[in-house]
Amino acid sequence: MRLYPIILAGALVFAHSAQAAPSAAKGKEVFHRAGCYECHNYQGQGGVGPRLAPKPLPFEALKSYVRNANGNMPPYAPAVLTDDELADIYAYLQSVSAGPSADSIPAVKNLKPGPS
Ligand code: HEC
Repeated sequence: MRLYPIILAGALVFAHSAQAAPSAAKGKEVFHRAGCYECHNYQGQGGVGPRLAPKPLPFEALKSYVRNANGNMPPYAPAVLTDDELADIYAYLQSVSAGPSADSIPAVKNLKPGPS
């Protein structure tokens, strides 16, 4: 049964990666539960806190900010918000789509001064 350890190792790797795969749906939930939305709005578009999405900061920068915030934002320790939950939040922020371009909105498109 030489294959057994290999199969077992494969199953462990699979189980681990399945658990750690960031989920935008979970992230949305955590973003609301942890109160991020109170200051950064429901889609991270900004409020009293700055805009976080679309195009969030690189993950490591966001994580370090959330862990060490010392301005008007409270720091979130791992006991309150785990690294996995932060990764989910990140997946959620990445999933937020950009707004429409000005050119795709008829009422706005014509506001640009024409050639004179
Ligand atoms: C009480 C309001 C408040 C809450 C709750 C809050 N933030 Fe913030 N956040 C801020 C403010 C205000 C700033 C701007 C810097 C400062 O004053 O701390 C900020 C800054 C940030 C930044 C840095 C943005 C940048 O571009 O520099 C990130 C990232 C961030 N918040 C993520 C989060 C996440 C994720 C959560 C939830 C886990 C959260 N915040 C909860 C108010 C809040």
